[in-house]
Amino acid sequence: MKEHYYLDNAATSWPKPEPVYTTMDKFFRSYGVNPGRGDHEMAVEAENMVSETRRMLAAFFNFGGDPNRVVFTQNATDSLNIGLYGLLNEGDHVVTTRLEHNSVLRPLNHLQRDHGVDVTFVARDAQGYVDPEDIGRAITPKTKVVVVNHASNVLGSVQDLEAIGKFSRETGSVFVVDTCQSAGVLPIDMDDLGIDVLTFTGHKGLLGPMGIGGMIVAEGIEVRPARVGGTGVDSVSPFHPDAYPYHLEAGTVSVPGIAGLNAAQKWFAELGRQLLGSAAGNVSHTQACRAALGHVHAVERAHTERLESAFRDLEGVTVYGPNGARYRVATLSMNIDAMPADQVGAMLDADYHVCVRTGVHCAPLAHKDENTVDKKGTVRFSPGYFTDDEDIDQAIAGVTELVTG
Ligand code: ALA
Repeated sequence: MKEHYYLDNAATSWPKPEPVYTTMDKFFRSYGVNPGRGDHEMAVEAENMVSETRRMLAAFFNFGGDPNRVVFTQNATDSLNIGLYGLLNEGDHVVTTRLEHNSVLRPLNHLQRDHGVDVTFVARDAQGYVDPEDIGRAITPKTKVVVVNHASNVLGSVQDLEAIGKFSRETGSVFVVDTCQSAGVLPIDMDDLGIDVLTFTGHKGLLGPMGIGGMIVAEGIEVRPARVGGTGVDSVSPFHPDAYPYHLEAGTVSVPGIAGLNAAQKWFAELGRQLLGSAAGNVSHTQACRAALGHVHAVERAHTERLESAFRDLEGVTVYGPNGARYRVATLSMNIDAMPADQVGAMLDADYHVCVRTGVHCAPLAHKDENTVDKKGTVRFSPGYFTDDEDIDQAIAGVTELVTG
């Protein structure tokens, strides 16, 4: 019997790989000083670690540009606010989808209400997939930005970034992608997919701690800084530097958070090298991490398939989103028809120690379209890489007992 059966990895991954904990502690104790703000050995060591993390993340997302265009923020919401406010002006038009999280919806709603930006919210099909042609049809000569989440945090459906990116590129709009639910699980090739601004959070699939996220801004894309201030460079200038990463980083970055992300990146690469075995040779960070992601995705999907198949067999249960065959991440939403979602979550927690997230998951339009608002949203199960069969057995047993009484 475990103390907790954690199936809420879409909210944050838990646990983290052991080196994330140990590296954060060790690095913070040894070199937890301000990077880029001094020439002494400790500051240089901290700066080197931060730069190494930018390089690893650039490789991880297959971004061939200057790694200094990997900018650290607090989280993906922070990155999306910086990106959307920094790109859009009065009179601009934005195309997005009805599957977005509030980290996209709310900045856009505020920009629409307060700053004269026009927004089109493209619908999706019953399983949670947006037709890229609909994105193409929604683009107008005034469209400045196309912004989509890669994987839905409610349904787990994964959008066709390649096709959407093509429409965005052909029309000269800036393609912004929210990778919160896919980074660390699916391969994402920023350059090949034509992503102009890739936003990520550190604490979900990337397996780092909370409080660290980031964005990668392609060369030639102009994002106005949301904050200006100290950077440690060109300090006599009255104005904030144009050079990256400082352009979008004002104030001290989270060295412990970046140290955690650094360790997580090395964990992915090490896992990939182990999986490749003798074929690993001198594979790049990108290649090693890609091998790891294939494995992580397969492990997580196997858990979801077990949950999905058990829930679909239960009378009185509704499973939402993709059927098993379509491209998806591990996140699975369901409801027990006779109970509101929050009651199911509370009983799973109290009686079975199963941790899930219930509610509308900060994605109100996804739930309106699914008619789940009156059910108080859905019960969301999100296995992660460290989920095991016992977690899944317990979740299935708990739901089965709740349904069959
Ligand atoms: N956005 C996170 C979730 O979906 C917190 O749970």
